[in-house]
Amino acid sequence: MAGSVHRPSGVDLRVSVGTVRLKNPIIAASGTFGYGVEFAHLVNLSALGGIVVKGLSLEPMAGSPAPRMCETTGGMVNAIGLQNIGVRAFVFEKLPELRKYDTAVLANVFGRTVEEYVEVIRILNDAAGLAAYELNISCPNVKQGGVEYGTDPVLAAEVTAAAKRASRRPLWVKLSPVVGRIGVIAKAVEAAGADAIVAANTYPSLCLDPHTRRSRLGSTTGGLSGAAIKPITMRLVYEASRAVQIPIIGLGGIETAADAVEYMVAGASAVEIGTAHFVDPRASERLVETLDAWCRVENVFEISSLRGSVRD
Ligand SMILES: Cc1cc2nc3c(=O)[nH]c(=O)nc-3n(C[C@H](O)[C@H](O)[C@H](O)COP(=O)(O)O)c2cc1C
Repeated sequence: MAGSVHRPSGVDLRVSVGTVRLKNPIIAASGTFGYGVEFAHLVNLSALGGIVVKGLSLEPMAGSPAPRMCETTGGMVNAIGLQNIGVRAFVFEKLPELRKYDTAVLANVFGRTVEEYVEVIRILNDAAGLAAYELNISCPNVKQGGVEYGTDPVLAAEVTAAAKRASRRPLWVKLSPVVGRIGVIAKAVEAAGADAIVAANTYPSLCLDPHTRRSRLGSTTGGLSGAAIKPITMRLVYEASRAVQIPIIGLGGIETAADAVEYMVAGASAVEIGTAHFVDPRASERLVETLDAWCRVENVFEISSLRGSVRD
């Protein structure tokens, strides 16, 4: 396992997501932590269990028209539209710096077609320093690909199987929260070869300005994230973990150690932190410390013992 056996506190925060071993269960979520390196002057990146970088596409993408974000009660709606520098620039410009840190680096992969997903993975296969791939089949902010794949079990299985065949690393599949019965999609991607399921992405949303009667976002609709979505996504994690054998990574509205613990009790092996970084860029690093303290107070000596421990 990564890292030392015990922290100074005596609490063992290490977790495994299949064959991926993390020093703690706190992972920075895609799109909310840049390519990781931009945060290095503010955050001790080596303290984190992992970092999922911004969604990577085959060619650079300019993203959606501004404005791209608006604040809502208990959260925010974004329509970034997967702006990114493209997979090749990531490999040459960002990854060499990022791999200097003692944390698991995950590449979030996006394509408009199955072939594009596969091509991004092939390019990443040749690069050193990645722990796994996170397949984004759930982005609500793009015209093609993304959520189309994530809401149809047949398409979800097709893109997962193709990505798995191409991949030389563990493949985590990030699901959409708007899937009706999440167990059906979870089973479909498990059967297609996914090594873990990430639940979940943002919820398609609309924010209007009542004065102008226009959307507050340049691309009209966006994706809701933050504290407001936590109980809804927690149910998805709970149900997905009962439907499949592969590990689940939970995310949606985590701000405190107790939030992270709740997701683990519901069935998550690890968690990701997204919107909380917009309030405090150090949110993930802070969570590692507060999680350690929470475990000490609650007499939990191995954090992995929390997984799926919900009582009837
Ligand atoms: C500004 C922003 C950009 C995001 N970009 C991506 C992305 O590129 N790929 C992806 O899979 N998810 C992306 N997400 C979704 C988050 O990774 C996460 O699934 C979602 O925000 C729920 O977690 P949270 O409530 O902790 O933010 C983005 C979210 C936000 C707020």
